[in-house]
Order: sequence, then C-alpha cells, then structure tokens
Amino acid sequence: MSDKRDFLATAGVNTRLAHTGNVPSDYHGFVNPPIVRASTVLFPDARTMDTRAQKYTYGTRGTPTTDALCEAIDALEGSAGTILVPSGLAAVTVPFLAFLSSGDHALIVDSVYFPTRNFCNTMLTRMGVTVEYYDPAIGAGIEALIRPNTRLVHTEAPGSNTFEMQDISAISGVAHRHGCVVTMDNTWATPLYFKPLDHGVDISIHAATKYPSGHSDILMGTVSANAKHWEQLHEATITLGICGSPDDSYQILRGLRTMGVRLERHQESALNLARWLEEHEDVERVLHPALPRFPGHDIWKRDFTGASGIFSFVLKVSEQAQVKARAHAFLDALSIFGLGYSWGGYESLALVVGLSDRTICKQPAEGPVIRLQIGLEDVPDLRRDLEAGFAAAAAVSA
Ligand SMILES: Cc1ncc(COP(=O)(O)O)c(C=O)c1O
Repeated sequence: MSDKRDFLATAGVNTRLAHTGNVPSDYHGFVNPPIVRASTVLFPDARTMDTRAQKYTYGTRGTPTTDALCEAIDALEGSAGTILVPSGLAAVTVPFLAFLSSGDHALIVDSVYFPTRNFCNTMLTRMGVTVEYYDPAIGAGIEALIRPNTRLVHTEAPGSNTFEMQDISAISGVAHRHGCVVTMDNTWATPLYFKPLDHGVDISIHAATKYPSGHSDILMGTVSANAKHWEQLHEATITLGICGSPDDSYQILRGLRTMGVRLERHQESALNLARWLEEHEDVERVLHPALPRFPGHDIWKRDFTGASGIFSFVLKVSEQAQVKARAHAFLDALSIFGLGYSWGGYESLALVVGLSDRTICKQPAEGPVIRLQIGLEDVPDLRRDLEAGFAAAAAVSA
C-alpha cells in the first residue's frame, strides 16, 4: 500500500474523499478509524513523561480520531495543519484571538456572517481591537483602508445571505504587502469548489456543521493554516483549551466520504431552482453567484469550480407595507422546506434574511430577501412547495 499516497496526490476529488484521513492497516484493516475518547494518556516512564516524547500526551492535544479528520482536511485544503473546534463560529473567533492583539486594526468584509460581526463588535472591540467593515467588491482597493496597525483582513465569499463575491487573490496580495494575515470563511464552497490557500489566503475557515456533516446533527469547525501561520494558530487553540470531540470528528470524517456526490446534487438542484426563480413573475431577482446576471459572477466563474446549494431571492411586493406579511405568508405555506437556521444538510430550509446589521451592503429596497437551502429532495417536489409559497404570498393584500 506504500504507493497509495502517491496515487491519491493526483486522484479525483471523490477518490481522495473516500481514501484520505485514515490508514486501515494501523487498525487491523478496519476501514474506519476507531473513536478514541480520551483525557488521560499514559506514559511508559518518567523520562518520556518529562520530555513528552510520544505522539499523544493529553486528550485536548489530539487523538487518532481527531488526527484522522485533520489529515483529511489538510489533504483537501493543501494546508500545513488543521485545528478542530466545537462550532463554525469558534472556527472564526479562535484565529481572530490567535492573530489579533490590543491596538490592532482588523478589516472585516461587510457581508460577513452575522455572529462573526457580533464577536467583532463586542469581545474583539472590548479587547482593544479596532474593527472596520469594507465593501466585498473592494478588490485591490482595500489598500486605501490599510493602516500601519492593520493586522488581519477577514474575507467571506460568497457573503452570508446575499452572496456577494470577493476578489480573494487581489485582496490577499495587497494584505500581504502590508504584513496582514488573511482569513477566509469558505463554508459555502467547501475546499472542493474553492481552495483558499491557493488564492493567497493564510487561514481557511469552515463550519464543518454544514456540508462536511451533511446531516444536520453535528456542530464543528475546522481552521486550516499555511506553513507560515500554523504554529501560531496551533499554539492559540492549545492555550485556549478549545478542541473538537472524537465522536464529532468521527461523524464529520464519515460525512466527508459522501460530500462530493452530495454537493453535486445540491449544486444541480439549487441551480435548477435558481434559474426557474429568475423567470418567476413573483421574484424580483435571484442572489446566486453562478447565475450570469449576478454581479460578481465573473469572479465566481474565474475562481470557483462549483456552487453549493444555498442562495437567496428577493420576493416581489407592490407596497412596502406588504413586506413582512408576504414573506411570512410565503414561509408559512411551505410543507417540505423547514423553517430553520443552519444549512448544508440533506433537507431543504427557508428563512427571511435580516440585514439590519449591514453598514455597506444594505438590504435590497425592492422587497424581502428569502434564503433557500436546497437539500437532496426531488426538484419537482421542491418547486411545487415553492409555488404554494408564492400563491400564499400573492394572496396577501396590502
Ligand atoms: C458562513 C458561515 N460561517 C460560520 C457559521 C457558523 O457555523 P456554526 O453554526 O457551526 O457555528 C455559519 C452558520 O450558519 C455560516 O453560515
């Protein structure tokens, strides 16, 4: 089996997903790694304990199960190392704590995931970090915002809920010239459809809660660093005492095996519905980066190799007074789409997006923004369900 690693280096993504992250011969041939639950790890003698000269030393510092997942993620990201944390939000906050200090300035994209903004506006600000939000379309123009104390540039593309694209390579190039760390929340694309480190990003962030889990039952985050930033990231997670559990790691590794084929289905169904919605008389516009009419589509086409299954649309309303009533009528008429947060699971979800936190990418003026997570169900059924929503929304009078 010695040449398996070489084979996988040039293999297709589904082959790599099926075969990375564990070595069956290490576990008597069993194809999946064992779930090793641990706090204590024993040392054979005092000298080994004193020098910590063995692979595993304590549960928070890794187990064979968490290592198997980290190895699989590193293979997908092309990273020097990956840490596991208990949620996607922690996958953002831990690297911010790792790389920012009091007196630093951080540039955060305005279309960021709201809880990230909340962390920046509360804890990070309280710690003495100055936070400034920037336009996702800024590209190399970010240079004008960089101050002598700017230390970190955070990107997220597409943006949360409204899906604005970012020129990640241009932003990274400028940020590095000024000595900044570039972080990216790449949850939407997964490393299958965009590899941040290949585009100059230093720290790739994922809510593994979404597509890697795939079944709406696990919370986990992964943070992967390039060689230059790995040590500092690793040190931070050890210092904070934040780690992912072996049981959850096992489930995420299990999810990775089918993530490629699931994503193909999410992509195909979501695009099918997005194109249908674009032509729908009750839809003002569709916010999906893979649609040629969407601003930022050129960047998506240039840099991304696929699209996942979550996008939004703006519901048509004739009067502003109808906004909430129509949006609620639409949601309440749905049978298959559940009303719930999160995404990336097998089941479809819908919600009305709130954008009152934005300072640059404001709420579309035309009507409410409805976000759809397209699951693995049959498209004709999802379409029928959405039609019921449109009929209910249209029945609302001003
Ligand atoms: C883009 C993005 N990043 C991070 C997260 C946080 O993930 P978690 O729910 O695991 O904290 C989410 C959750 O919705 C998200 O949409």
